[in-house]
Amino acid sequence: MQSDNGTSAVAENKMRYDFLPTRPALNARQFNISRSPKQGGNSDDDSRSYLEELGIEIIENPQPIQFSPNAVKIVHRWSPYVQGFSAQFVQNILDRYSQDYANPSILDPFAGSGTSIVQSKLNNFESYGIELNPLLHFIATAKVSTWDVDPKALLQIAQTLPREHVFHAPSFLKSTKHFNADVLENLEILKSGLDDFAPVTSQEKKIKDLMLLAFSAILIESSNLKRSPCLGYSSSKIVRGHVPFELFENKIREIASDLRTLQDQYQHIRAQSRIWLANSMHFEHPNTYDLIITSPPYMNGLDYVMNYKIEMGWLGFAEGHRQLKSVKDDMVVCDNVSKKLIRDFSQQEDRYNNRWLAKIKEEMTLNIARRGRYRRPDMPEIIHKYFDDMYKVMRQVIGVLRPNGRFILVVGDSLIADTYLPTDLLIAKIGQELGLTIEKIEKARNRRSGQIRSYKLRETIITLHKEG
Ligand SMILES: C[S@@+](CC[C@H](N)C(=O)[O-])C[C@H]1O[C@@H](n2cnc3c(N)ncnc32)[C@H](O)[C@@H]1O
Repeated sequence: MQSDNGTSAVAENKMRYDFLPTRPALNARQFNISRSPKQGGNSDDDSRSYLEELGIEIIENPQPIQFSPNAVKIVHRWSPYVQGFSAQFVQNILDRYSQDYANPSILDPFAGSGTSIVQSKLNNFESYGIELNPLLHFIATAKVSTWDVDPKALLQIAQTLPREHVFHAPSFLKSTKHFNADVLENLEILKSGLDDFAPVTSQEKKIKDLMLLAFSAILIESSNLKRSPCLGYSSSKIVRGHVPFELFENKIREIASDLRTLQDQYQHIRAQSRIWLANSMHFEHPNTYDLIITSPPYMNGLDYVMNYKIEMGWLGFAEGHRQLKSVKDDMVVCDNVSKKLIRDFSQQEDRYNNRWLAKIKEEMTLNIARRGRYRRPDMPEIIHKYFDDMYKVMRQVIGVLRPNGRFILVVGDSLIADTYLPTDLLIAKIGQELGLTIEKIEKARNRRSGQIRSYKLRETIITLHKEG
């Protein structure tokens, strides 16, 4: 049909509607989210049956457990690590149990950047960590093994590094996208200077480690990226060419200032600290411990390798994607893991299992089928592997926990494909199965689900106790 001005009715309608705001069609993911039965829900309600079975209540105990306050704390501030927990949280635990353990020995089987180890050392308690990411192992080790470095020598060496251009950014990284051209050139010059410094004495070796630590700490700030907590491009960032030199100098000054404080106010510290580059699932401990203070990877949380690929590449801890993948495959599983690893896992016969896990997997399988499409249809198996991995770590460390010892974990729960996953309660249950009692579970803060923003999740502190 034609209208009186000669245009077709369809075209006329189109012209009319062109003036109205259009609502973009939802893609399949958005559609599923908008229709989710979990909209407006919360993990407290969805945990009820599990809590009843465990015979416990979750205690509300809001407290700062995130890394951000560490940005101004001695030693902790040497490396920014958004996934870490707060030094104050570790201190609170040490204070809370000061009557129970006069001189505790402490372990963190997921040491990360070393918050537990550093804070324990500041209290003059011996502390040990295990970390599988070689970059994080290096950072945590440098943070506890360099306290006797002469700050003047550090400043002097860092300020007189040669400015040649020998080093080139790792070829497997997209460095020309990560950095502006002049920033990239200056980073390469800075790294060339660091590589040129050949330490002879053990003091010089430690100085080199501190300079490399400082270099690793400024890479993301110098880049066009931000970490919040995953690595992504930042459209608002403007980084000028001289920034790497400025940031590096500031970081070295910060470390030198902390070394001065350590040498003035903490000279009494004799306690040993050590971080092993190893897999917590299999590590044979040479020690026993009073306190295990840790935060494991969260179920659908961060990929601790890909998020650190830039620092790993620039510092020589990875030469390519294959090496990154191999470290990732050995870790407690994350949802960015290879499909083959999960296929192989699903064929294994000897896997950890329990009734809750079986029920959760079944519900998730149905939910994924109902949705029709899902990013990782193998998610139920990924979840199964997560708890199998956690079981292995827990079995290993509970075996070396002393009688009357405590195992304290910070962990978040998850909502995955409309299925609630009470990670904290499952971990507590595994602890029980391995012979510990659940002393308490405290809610430190509420979180929002990444998938369904209106769904309230939590971050909890689980305290497990070994009978004396
Ligand atoms: C939540 S982070 C710990 C952060 C730490 N609390 C801090 O403040 O720096 C978990 C850490 O566990 C490490 N990890 C994952 N699987 C591991 C395994 N099987 N053995 C040892 N470390 C592992 C990751 O590389 C990551 O650094």
